[in-house]
Amino acid sequence: MTVLQLLLPGRAEVGNLTTDPEPTLQALADLYAYPEPVPSRGWVRANMVSTLDGSATGPDGVSGALGGAVDKATFKALRGLSDLVLVGAGTVRAEGYHAPSADPVFADRRRARGQRPAPALAVVTRGGHVPNENGIFDGSSPTYVVTTAQADLAKLRDLAGKDQVIVAGDEDVDLDDAIRALAGRGFRRLLLEGGPTLLGQALAQGRVDELCLTWAPMLVGGTGPRIAIGPESGVTARPAHLIAAEDVLLGRWLVQHIPND
Ligand SMILES: NC(=O)c1ccc[n+]([C@@H]2O[C@H](COP(=O)([O-])OP(=O)(O)OC[C@H]3O[C@@H](n4cnc5c(N)ncnc54)[C@H](OP(=O)(O)O)[C@@H]3O)[C@@H](O)[C@H]2O)c1
Repeated sequence: MTVLQLLLPGRAEVGNLTTDPEPTLQALADLYAYPEPVPSRGWVRANMVSTLDGSATGPDGVSGALGGAVDKATFKALRGLSDLVLVGAGTVRAEGYHAPSADPVFADRRRARGQRPAPALAVVTRGGHVPNENGIFDGSSPTYVVTTAQADLAKLRDLAGKDQVIVAGDEDVDLDDAIRALAGRGFRRLLLEGGPTLLGQALAQGRVDELCLTWAPMLVGGTGPRIAIGPESGVTARPAHLIAAEDVLLGRWLVQHIPND
């Protein structure tokens, strides 16, 4: 029985994935709703999974093995709420990313909000090496490449389409500019699915509003990265909720932004 128990705030049963999968997905979607109205600069939710000893990857070098049924259900619910999935090219290459597909469970909810049936995808890359595999450019919603002036822009425009290539920086992608450009195209509910390099950069640039973190019940040792690497950030967060489900803990953490002077 995969019962999901809300620990914070207050205790309540969220649902039962084994006996009532669809109502449980809907209950998760309610719990993880984006703020309304969504800020015009966009709201960036990161969704990551970590082992108990802090690794973002399993023994096979990717994160797939860390996620069980509960993590997969949360992943689906978060995609079902989002306008656009933002991901680093390293994750696309390592995990063989596909364009997100429409999930009928969330169709009514998306229609009511004027969202496309499936979230769009945006791949962040400096060098421009985005493998044209797994139908990544053939989804029902657009796939963007967010890159730098250094990349082979003509090749990327051929691959993704002229309007789907966003140049946001000379050497590195400036994520604030990139997210503003995506929000300006109507993608305000952003879901950053990693990897650790992209999340580290987004945190350092103050462009993460919340972190949804699954603690996978395993310790793997080794030299896997943490969920955020690279520049230092010093971000603090407070829990919006914690859910216990079997052996997994799910946390939704709101980043405490320091107001500008
Ligand atoms: N635990 C989790 O939740 C989770 C989630 C996702 C991925 N992962 C794992 O993480 C590993 C991949 O790690 P990663 O850190 O390499 O992934 P990543 O952050 O997805 O990819 C890094 C790449 O993204 C591009 N990039 C990121 N920030 C950039 C910026 N500011 N400007 C320009 N380009 C930028 C660069 O692409 P180019 O190299 O193309 O220039 C960079 O090499 C895989 O093993 C994957 O399974 C774990």
